[in-house]
Amino acid sequence: MSVAARWEKQGDIGIITVDSPPVNALSAPVRQGIFDGVKALDADAEVKAIILICDGRTFIAGADITEFGKPPKGPDLRSVQETMENASKPIIAAIHGTALGGGLETALAAHYRVAVPSAQVGLPEVKLGLLPGAGGTQRLPRLIGPERALKVIVDGNPIKAPEARKLEIIDAVVDGDLREGALDFARKLIDRGAPLRKVRDIQIDASSLPENFFADFRKGLNKLRGFPAPEKIVQTIEAAVNLPFDEGMKVERAGITELMASTESKALRYMFFAEREVAKIPDVPRDTPLRKIETAAVLGAGTMGGGIAMNFANAGIPVTVIEATQEALDRGMKIIEQNYRNTQAKGRLTAGQVDTRLSLITPSLSYDDIAGVDIVIEAIFENMEIKKEVFRKLDSICKPGCILASNTSYLDLNEIASVTGRPEDVIGLHFFSPANVMRLLEVVRGAKTGKDVLATCMALAKTIGKIGVVAGVCHGFIGNRMIARYGGEANKMLWEGATPHQIDSVLYDFGMPMGPLQMGDLAGLDVGARARSEFPDMFPIDPKFPVIADILVAKGRHGQKTKAGYYKYGDDRKAMPDPEVEAIIAAAARERGIEQREISNEEIIERCIYAAINEGARELEEGIALRPCDIDIIWINGYGFPSYRGGPMFYADTVGVDKVHAAVEKYRQLYGDRSWKHSWLLEKLARAGKGFADWKDVM
Ligand code: 3HC
Ligand code: NAI
Repeated sequence: MSVAARWEKQGDIGIITVDSPPVNALSAPVRQGIFDGVKALDADAEVKAIILICDGRTFIAGADITEFGKPPKGPDLRSVQETMENASKPIIAAIHGTALGGGLETALAAHYRVAVPSAQVGLPEVKLGLLPGAGGTQRLPRLIGPERALKVIVDGNPIKAPEARKLEIIDAVVDGDLREGALDFARKLIDRGAPLRKVRDIQIDASSLPENFFADFRKGLNKLRGFPAPEKIVQTIEAAVNLPFDEGMKVERAGITELMASTESKALRYMFFAEREVAKIPDVPRDTPLRKIETAAVLGAGTMGGGIAMNFANAGIPVTVIEATQEALDRGMKIIEQNYRNTQAKGRLTAGQVDTRLSLITPSLSYDDIAGVDIVIEAIFENMEIKKEVFRKLDSICKPGCILASNTSYLDLNEIASVTGRPEDVIGLHFFSPANVMRLLEVVRGAKTGKDVLATCMALAKTIGKIGVVAGVCHGFIGNRMIARYGGEANKMLWEGATPHQIDSVLYDFGMPMGPLQMGDLAGLDVGARARSEFPDMFPIDPKFPVIADILVAKGRHGQKTKAGYYKYGDDRKAMPDPEVEAIIAAAARERGIEQREISNEEIIERCIYAAINEGARELEEGIALRPCDIDIIWINGYGFPSYRGGPMFYADTVGVDKVHAAVEKYRQLYGDRSWKHSWLLEKLARAGKGFADWKDVM
């Protein structure tokens, strides 16, 4: 018997149990085990039906992603499925946990499927840049119809068992013990001499499809720019409708083979593991005891504080919101309520849910009200003196063991912690705006932050639906420090002759949700301009290339809100290139003696993206970022970097670090070390012919 699956008999029913922690993925031993089990039980004359069930927390969660790209071993999944489908007795898949991807495809090759109510099924391959490659694109349309199957496969989202029952993906939902329920189901099949139901034999009635169904569906895919899998999925479902099963399987095979080799899928598979990797902190053991977080407080109900408080309420954690004045408190609470009501209007929350969440948020003007909470998150003005004063106050008021967190974007967390008598309890929790929506949370580890505090905050991130990434203390931490380089080059290129529209459209075409200048207009150019003038030390600016936004703000162009910034705007808020802006910049450049020239699209990518990569490499050298994947997760979840490019550091590897390094060197020669600081890591990798995937080799 395979170590990953065993089989036995209970009366005249055979039971194959997969046991391959953590998620029973279809590794070679699992495939071998199922294959051998089916063969053995099928050959056993006493056995009248076979159950396929799993030990542990879940049914088969899919193909073993770690095997992708490696030489195949043992029977492939399709031969396992054929053996199941061609067995001479009914096979019943008994599902708990999640039957995903190859897991559901294995179940679809069984003759019947039963599941516990909490189980979920789905074909999430699209999220890995793939299509279901073990018959999912051919069997699911036969089972539930091509219209529904196409939606399920292109969305890739799991479906809960009761819904899966309605869709007839599963044949029965069993309450109580799954094994007993499956045995009972099998017994009934035997008693009624039920047929061997092969999904592959179901005929699709193509005439029932709406006219132009596939063409119309394709139109909706336009927004998924850069992702090749959805179009390929449509093609395979078309094949399911138009071709016999075996021919459709060939189309599916060709599709998955092509996608598997694509950079996009490699990037998305890398992201799958990166998301899990960032939760691991090398010097903080997984079993570090956590502090309990049952109550929270947020200081400041402004842009960030309100959203942060909503995160806690959404997770069912009572939160007190403290403001400096009644007026600010009322304003903040009103916005919170409005946000919830908007979600309710969209049908994503019921009135009752909104009321429950609002009841968990307590407004207050008194710090005394937060003396007993488990965590405080400060989200007040970005000013060191004010923050220090507040942290001194927190130190004197909050109970021992309370975590004192700051949402600061740039300030030195160690300096903030130093005014308290408990720097081990102080940590940075840097949310991204809008804080109730954005998934990213930079968890800033101060020099003295306790390991248990760090571990607790990483766990808290998960509880409130965020992805936590650890960052060290420096100006701007991981993300904003890199984005300063990215935006800084965009600004310089404006001086040198690129137009806002050119820069933004090149970066949009690269895959960013919008370019940096349009982004500036959206956020308000005056916000940054004010911060730069109030705190010049915080934003060191290259004197040769002042910030163009400041010139525009001086002319009353504050961005979208004044219908003029880098662009002009009509009532529809659509950004329109404005010759006036180009003239303003050209005149300023002439005044400063900056020669304007034609800037190529390639230069825009190199200067914005490579500048960020170079800074990311420096963060790795300094230990500000733990691993390249931490940087990539931050860029994808905090700044909208296209996930099919895998984040800037993964992207560097796809371009070739030697090429990136050569370009960085070229720009250093041209612009000096101020904006193109030397990274020895980048240089070493380039010289060694390696990429960030192997960065440890040269450290
Ligand atoms: N292959 C290899 N490893 C996997 C895996 C898979 N399919 N699914 C999960 N793992 C690993 C994770 O990397 C993690 O490892 P770690 O502990 O070393 O970090 C461990 O299993 C536990 O995973 P999670 O932390 O994600 O555990 P959760 O309980 O939070 O979630 C899950 C469980 C819902 C099953 C989630 O892991 C998941 O969504 N897995 C991927 C499912 C998937 O995409 N399946 C399709 C694969 S592609 C395919 O099947 C192609 C086919 O069509 C031919
Ligand atoms: P904001 O100006 O919108 O809100 C700050 C609020 O704090 C105001 O409502 C103010 O009345 C209140 N406040 C001031 N002093 C207070 C005190 N002593 N006690 C209680 N409340 C007090 O500012 P915003 O944008 O929400 O920023 C807050 C913090 O979050 C800053 O440190 C900022 O750097 C950081 N941040 C901001 C992001 C953004 O996009 N706005 C993103 C990430 C972090």
